Amino acid sequence: MSRIDSALSEASQRLTASYPQRNEQSDTARLDAQILLCHVLEKDNSYLFTWPDKELSHTQLEAFNQLIDQRAKGTPVAYLTGERGFWSLTLKVNPSVLIPRPDTELLVELALNHPLPEQALVADLGTGSGAIALSLAKENPNWKILTVDRFPEPLETAKENAQLNNVNNVEFLLGSWCEPLPDNMDMIVSNPPYIREDDKHLDEGDVQFEPRTALTAGKDGLDDIRLISIQAFQKLKAGGWLLLEHGYDQGETIRDILIGDGYIEARTKQDLALNDRVTLARKP
Ligand SMILES: C[S@@+](CC[C@H](N)C(=O)[O-])C[C@H]1O[C@@H](n2cnc3c(N)ncnc32)[C@H](O)[C@@H]1O
Repeated sequence: MSRIDSALSEASQRLTASYPQRNEQSDTARLDAQILLCHVLEKDNSYLFTWPDKELSHTQLEAFNQLIDQRAKGTPVAYLTGERGFWSLTLKVNPSVLIPRPDTELLVELALNHPLPEQALVADLGTGSGAIALSLAKENPNWKILTVDRFPEPLETAKENAQLNNVNNVEFLLGSWCEPLPDNMDMIVSNPPYIREDDKHLDEGDVQFEPRTALTAGKDGLDDIRLISIQAFQKLKAGGWLLLEHGYDQGETIRDILIGDGYIEARTKQDLALNDRVTLARKP
């Protein structure tokens, strides 16, 4: 038997001891332990602070310790709890999908603020958990969203997330980038793989547990963006927009790629940390 407060203290000490190799901070350890205990108890954070002296059952303590063991070995918290919040949604996640990042909310925000017809036809390429497609669909029930992934597992996860979040205006298409799309799209958005294949961060933190197929795109990280730029130009209607998330140092090169492929009005937007994050351009 163990009380909530002592189980949390022991767990965060264990996690703190295991994190330095991965350059993480001890306040992250405490937060991770809280999230995992809430998951085991099926309660929210306020419960832990209201009942610090409550005893955990043997089963609860064992389940918590197992999760802490896995977290100490580096497994991302979201894969342990099986979910992650994104925009206004709670999304199921598993090791076949990228864990949705807060950075990607900038892409959603820019897409939502774009003037589009009432019943716009919009595509999200590389759906993963469905984070982008489902957020856009939830905010705009009149839009028709087509979302594509090359692998069946992410597509199934995204479908499950659509059901969980009561989203009905999304179609899920298996295929590579724009190949399964019809012509005359109003807008195409994507958070494609954009990390260089030799990037040393791929062996650190959460990223090492995520699918490489969701992360890397050739020597300079831009192989998929080059393909998407060419393919999207064919599928967009005249005046349609392409919005791409990318790395902090890729904005200028991506604008050049887009202009070279015939787009106009290419510009790059920054995230809250003032890093280049999304580049958009219009088909003339
Ligand atoms: C960076 S993840 C983005 C996931 C999700 N949209 C998000 O923002 O959290 C990239 C996604 O692209 C998918 N993908 C990789 N190559 C692809 C291709 N050729 N065609 C379609 N999807 C692809 C991966 O399976 C992965 O789900």
